[in-house]
Amino acid sequence: MLKLSTLMGIFTVMFAYGLAPLGAQEMGSTAAGEAYAKQFCIECHGISEKVEMSPNLTAPSFKEIADTPGMTRQALLVWFRTPHPTMPNLVLEMQNEEDVIAYILSLKKINE
Ligand code: HEC
Repeated sequence: MLKLSTLMGIFTVMFAYGLAPLGAQEMGSTAAGEAYAKQFCIECHGISEKVEMSPNLTAPSFKEIADTPGMTRQALLVWFRTPHPTMPNLVLEMQNEEDVIAYILSLKKINE
């Protein structure tokens, strides 16, 4: 018979090791994502949280992308894994992908 105290202990350990189901949006590092974007995306996209024009006028700024209604980690993952005629097919490593997604989503308007 599993005691409640045993269960609580298991959860405590899971939290301590970061195994608890985190908010699905929090899987990458925003700082690493920003650094990555500065290296690989800035040539075409406005990447800061300010509303700005993208250097490539057909590319939406990351702020605009973040504020697109319904924008989620899942939507961005799908985007990155689909070929795009107008954007070079960037091969993002899994971790870079999560980092960049975390960064883009961090630009979302918080209160609206
Ligand atoms: C050479 C220019 C270029 C580079 C470099 C580039 N992009 Fe893009 N990106 C575009 C263009 C142009 C579009 C618009 C494509 C369209 O709407 O068909 C776009 C669209 C997107 C979209 C989809 C926006 C939407 O609302 O559907 C995302 C997300 C995105 N880029 C992320 C990135 C990330 C992350 C990087 C860096 C790893 C990057 N891009 C690098 C040109 C670029």
